Amino acid sequence: MRDTYMDRFSSNWSEDAHRDFRKKPIVIRHNYHEHHAFSDVALAALIERHPAELTDICTMGEDATDRDSWRAGRAENVSGLELIEAVRKGKLWINLRHAMDTDPEYRPIYDAMLADMKKADPSFKPLNAEAGILISSPTAQVFCHSDVSETMLWHMRGVKRFRTYPPQLPYLNRDDVEAVLHHDQTEDIPFDPAWDEDAFTVDLQPGMAANWPLHGPHRIENQSGVNVSVPFEISTPQSRKLNAILFANGVLRRQFGYAPKSTSTRGMGAFLKHALNMAWKIKIKLFGDGKKPMPKSEETFDIDLKSEQGFTDRAAA
Ligand SMILES: [Fe+2]
Repeated sequence: MRDTYMDRFSSNWSEDAHRDFRKKPIVIRHNYHEHHAFSDVALAALIERHPAELTDICTMGEDATDRDSWRAGRAENVSGLELIEAVRKGKLWINLRHAMDTDPEYRPIYDAMLADMKKADPSFKPLNAEAGILISSPTAQVFCHSDVSETMLWHMRGVKRFRTYPPQLPYLNRDDVEAVLHHDQTEDIPFDPAWDEDAFTVDLQPGMAANWPLHGPHRIENQSGVNVSVPFEISTPQSRKLNAILFANGVLRRQFGYAPKSTSTRGMGAFLKHALNMAWKIKIKLFGDGKKPMPKSEETFDIDLKSEQGFTDRAAA
């Protein structure tokens, strides 16, 4: 039940959006961006109370194919407003992970958005949904990647160019998703600028939201203003099933030297892979998987308002 203030916020889905949700790229309209929670002052207060271990601060290079330029940093003794100022003048990307689903101020907005998605498609049955808040610089970019969950990106402030590519070769090799599920690599995938001709492209303005098919590769180039958006990552029976098959394929490949060819979620092979996936996860639960740290987690810069780019490299300091 929405309280009276939340009553004024909603989203508007066209006939096409209802029909194509999660099957093809779609864009819908909403007015959640008018909520005061996305103002500088409210976000600054959130930054200051949000757990540091759930706050990612990153920067990146100019070249859309140079995914190795993505790196992490830290903000120490910096207020929330100062951090937003560094974002405004620098080339930064901040992810307040789980802010929407854990912070009491933001949770009602999260609940309303999730209810909108369920209402738009009664067959959409989220098993688990998490949402952070992204605050990024006017010129920041996010390199081409494939998320393991179903995703919907709700845009609040600034303008960002969003491109998504079909979840198939040459744009997506499911072996990359398999490697992400096995913690062998980050979600970034190889990208060729020639693919842009085949992309679904939209400039997201405040009050727009985009959704695209599971594992669909996508990338983002901010166009103007401090960008604020809310990415939902949603696990559904469909995403769990496909990821279980990919995970099992990865076990066959890594542990048994067998090169699986099928990613079908039907038939006896899929059933056996599902069983293998369950067994393997139980083994990991009992004995651990000797997990490697995710790449790029090392912090290489500090937020520094005196610097023109908003931060100072540790090596250069
Ligand atoms: Fe993504």
